[in-house]
Amino acid sequence: METPPDTDVSAKLAARDLHFWYGTTHALKGISLSMKPNLVTAFIGPSGCGKSTLLRCFNRMNELIPDTQWEGDLLLDGEDIRSADPIMLRRRVGMVFQKPNPFPKSIEENIAWGARINGYKGNMPELVERCLRQAALWDEVKDRLKDNAYELSGGQQQRLCIARALAAEPDVLLMDEPASALDPLATGKLEETIIELKDAYTIVIVTHNMQQASRISDETAFFYLGELVEFDDTEVIFTRPENKRTEDYITGRFG
Ligand SMILES: Nc1ncnc2c1ncn2[C@@H]1O[C@H](COP(=O)(O)OP(=O)(O)OP(=O)(O)O)[C@@H](O)[C@H]1O
Ligand SMILES: [Mg+2]
Repeated sequence: METPPDTDVSAKLAARDLHFWYGTTHALKGISLSMKPNLVTAFIGPSGCGKSTLLRCFNRMNELIPDTQWEGDLLLDGEDIRSADPIMLRRRVGMVFQKPNPFPKSIEENIAWGARINGYKGNMPELVERCLRQAALWDEVKDRLKDNAYELSGGQQQRLCIARALAAEPDVLLMDEPASALDPLATGKLEETIIELKDAYTIVIVTHNMQQASRISDETAFFYLGELVEFDDTEVIFTRPENKRTEDYITGRFG
């Protein structure tokens, strides 16, 4: 991949003047932001403001949607995402979706798949255990690794999907409302997992839950109608935001 000039070398992921269109819908309007390595960045904002669209730009998942186009720069480790091989890119930038989507296979096979696409040739049982431990699921499933993943609860399935994403050894983990279908206990476990993972990964999480954003993220970006309104330390966003719209949103006055 090439390195364009004016690159913020400390950023893991960056967008510069990014625009995105679905047909004629202008969904992202000149977004510029940089995400630092080994931090959790939260994307917040009302429904339809472009959070998922931006998340999917970073591993070019949007390109799988017909009649879309984008302009601007997207960078991973300072290198141009546009000129990257999409398959290699998606290995480095893993994604966890709102609705858990395990394969209809055994728990261990779900993880082995993640490893195999990355050409993993090592000890598979060891890797399965490591990924399940990292995703805080091992103790709950260690005696039933051959069970079908569909027999797990929703929260367990979501953590299995995280384990599967980790097995591909990404640098970045994108998570789109990963806790929205989970109960408070499962959400708590997922949040602990995310906090533990940030030592090794750069994490971006979309959430509608303000408490969650303030609990787990280091930096928070607030979006409104396809624009980035404010981006700062999470503590600043939630205690003394500069922008009136950010304040109205986090205090529940709209959205
Ligand atoms: N596949 C699609 N085809 C056409 N328009 C789309 C598509 N996906 C999103 N959009 C439009 O792009 C805009 C941004 O949508 P996006 O899904 O990124 O918002 P969001 O912030 O993730 O919202 P939510 O919080 O509801 O998930 C919206 O106007 C939406 O209707
Ligand atoms: Mg969304």
